[in-house]
Amino acid sequence: MKFSVLTTLGALTVASAVQVNPLPAPRNITWGSSGPIRVQELKLEHQSAIVTSAWNRAWKSITTLQWVPAAVEAPISSYPAFPTSTPNAKRATPEAPAVRSVQVHIADHHADLQHGVDESYTLEVSQHVPAIRITAKTPWGALHAFTTLQQLVISDGKGGLIIEQPVKIQDAPLYPHRGIMIDTGRNFISVRKILEQIDGLALSKLNVLHWHLDDAQSWPMEMRSYPEMTKDAYSPREIYTENDMRRVVAYARARGVRVIPEVDIPGHSASGWQQVDPQIVTCTNSWWSNDVWEHHTAVEPNPGQLDIIYNKTYEVVENVYQDLSRIFSDSFFHVGADELQANCYNFSSHVMDWFAEDPSRTYNDLAQYWIDHAVPIFRGVENRRIMMWEDIVLSTENAHDVPKDIVMQSWNNGLENIKKLTSAGYDTVVSSADFMYLDCGHGGFVTNDPRYNEQSNPDGSVNFNYGGNGGSWCAPYKTWQRIYDYDFTTNLTASEVKHVIGAEAPLWSEQVDDINISNELWPRAAALGELVWSGNRDKNGHKRTNQLTQRLLNFREYLVANGVLANALVPKWCLKNPHGCDLYQNQTAIA
Ligand SMILES: *[C@@H]1O[C@H](CO)[C@@H](O)[C@H](O)[C@H]1NC(C)=O
Ligand SMILES: *[C@@H]1O[C@H](CO)[C@@H](O)[C@H](O)[C@H]1NC(C)=O
Ligand SMILES: *[C@@H]1O[C@H](CO)[C@@H](O)[C@H](O)[C@H]1NC(C)=O
Ligand SMILES: *[C@@H]1O[C@H](CO)[C@@H](O)[C@H](O)[C@H]1NC(C)=O
Ligand SMILES: *[C@@H]1O[C@H](CO)[C@@H](O)[C@H](O)[C@H]1NC(C)=O
Ligand SMILES: *[C@@H]1O[C@H](CO)[C@@H](O)[C@H](O)[C@H]1NC(C)=O
Repeated sequence: MKFSVLTTLGALTVASAVQVNPLPAPRNITWGSSGPIRVQELKLEHQSAIVTSAWNRAWKSITTLQWVPAAVEAPISSYPAFPTSTPNAKRATPEAPAVRSVQVHIADHHADLQHGVDESYTLEVSQHVPAIRITAKTPWGALHAFTTLQQLVISDGKGGLIIEQPVKIQDAPLYPHRGIMIDTGRNFISVRKILEQIDGLALSKLNVLHWHLDDAQSWPMEMRSYPEMTKDAYSPREIYTENDMRRVVAYARARGVRVIPEVDIPGHSASGWQQVDPQIVTCTNSWWSNDVWEHHTAVEPNPGQLDIIYNKTYEVVENVYQDLSRIFSDSFFHVGADELQANCYNFSSHVMDWFAEDPSRTYNDLAQYWIDHAVPIFRGVENRRIMMWEDIVLSTENAHDVPKDIVMQSWNNGLENIKKLTSAGYDTVVSSADFMYLDCGHGGFVTNDPRYNEQSNPDGSVNFNYGGNGGSWCAPYKTWQRIYDYDFTTNLTASEVKHVIGAEAPLWSEQVDDINISNELWPRAAALGELVWSGNRDKNGHKRTNQLTQRLLNFREYLVANGVLANALVPKWCLKNPHGCDLYQNQTAIA
């Protein structure tokens, strides 16, 4: 395919003549048309440990993978002539201009990796200058420039490397908080696998790993104050030592990813805590009773909540919190506060006595007692920003008065709860279960479940089989299109929109461990990555989901090539035949 021929066909065709299609799509990318630029050994003209090691990783990936885009966008003019074939990589003549170095200019080398740090960058590859020029306000922006650049440099098919055209990029994220949540309380995830997820985060420009460390089921973290807590790890091998946790934090930081720890309290608490003093937890020996809902003490087995009235609870919470605060350097710390079950407190004599003392007291007063006594402990660390699940404000057992500087993570009722939280003035992280919960739709995990003993579909409906949602409370499975199409600021006022600080896709791990964590998270989390980096609409405000298709299919292959074991999304035929697998031939059917 001759390049000069393509350039005569007008702007759209020139753009589509470029095969690379980095993900997330940059906010602003302008391709030239003078032809390919040869890439020689790129020397970094810059000195600083974080930037240098990030460049070394990017360069290693470039040279070892010799990447050729696995899925390319079809020229618009080829619609609807399916299938179209994947063109070969373009060759550069020996006379083509070459680049030999990467110049990086960073305005502030000392900017810490914290919420809201400037992550913008510019990147310019020109036929006239033998250096690729990158500018960034902070090192963290420069790291994003590298993950873009490593997707731009491709093999010329003859052992050389090229960038297909001169290019100018101006890029910056839409939202400062962009992440995934992993859960190592329900099942243990090895450090090696956690690091793999961080590789995926960095490549897709996500910058938060929310680490739901423990849950009622297990306590995997080694605690300086209470070594006995890991008696409730699944085994002596399924423990995170202090060094393991520090290693995860350091590995993530080197890749521009913040690690936000979560200790889920006062709900979802049994393991670990009960080893310190059985009285600081309650209802652990009750039947969780989801079969008789009026008696339920937990929404899933096993039950357990911190005793809110027992004084020693706060002493232990403080020591655990201080221990973890020495390990996790992020200014954000998540302290749970979801799904408090009133019935659980029937098993606490401390709580029952407290209610008896004053019959006007309610469960809302109890939740308020927790806020009043626990929040000062959380504020005991300098510059700490506390994060909680929305339940503490919006559930039936809500507290009356939750400080407005606490970041709320929204997971119920989609747009409705986002509106409630932001209009009340809370900074909000969107994790609406109907759109972003990656664990949904795999059936139930509870056993002795007679709902499956049916010889036909009980009511013939897709959504209400096996007694409801196939046993998965948040079925169906959230596809990448479902995630990417979510307009989560719909109907918010301008001042409410400012309170949306970003989004996280949670992967709860009742049915996840090392075996499937990567393919459950990826590449779906990369669709979220683009949604919160540059959005789901083009310059004219039209949904660009259909343009993400080939970009995401390529990126999935790229993740796998980089060691992140992402799931297949389509038969490979779809990847090789752009838009051949679309449901509608109308390319703007997604409005
Ligand atoms: C995008 O970049 C080009 C080239 O640098 C520039 O001319 C244009 O104004 C930019 N567009 C936006 C929307 O920033
Ligand atoms: C807990 O106590 C309340 C109020 O006395 C009662 O209605 C409820 O049934 C009790 N729950 C259990 C699980 O015993
Ligand atoms: C719990 O602590 C509070 C305040 O420190 C104190 O007033 C109260 O007597 C203590 N209660 C018990 C049962 O020790
Ligand atoms: C993880 O994989 C197992 C086995 O393939 C499957 O049963 C389970 O549903 C998966 N979990 C999730 C959340 O996808
Ligand atoms: C947005 O608000 C309008 C007017 O109140 C309402 O009709 C519409 O259903 C809302 N949209 C969504 C997606 O909630
Ligand atoms: C394609 O779909 C869009 C959105 O539904 C619609 O506005 C447009 O008219 C359709 N185009 C054709 C050619 O049917």
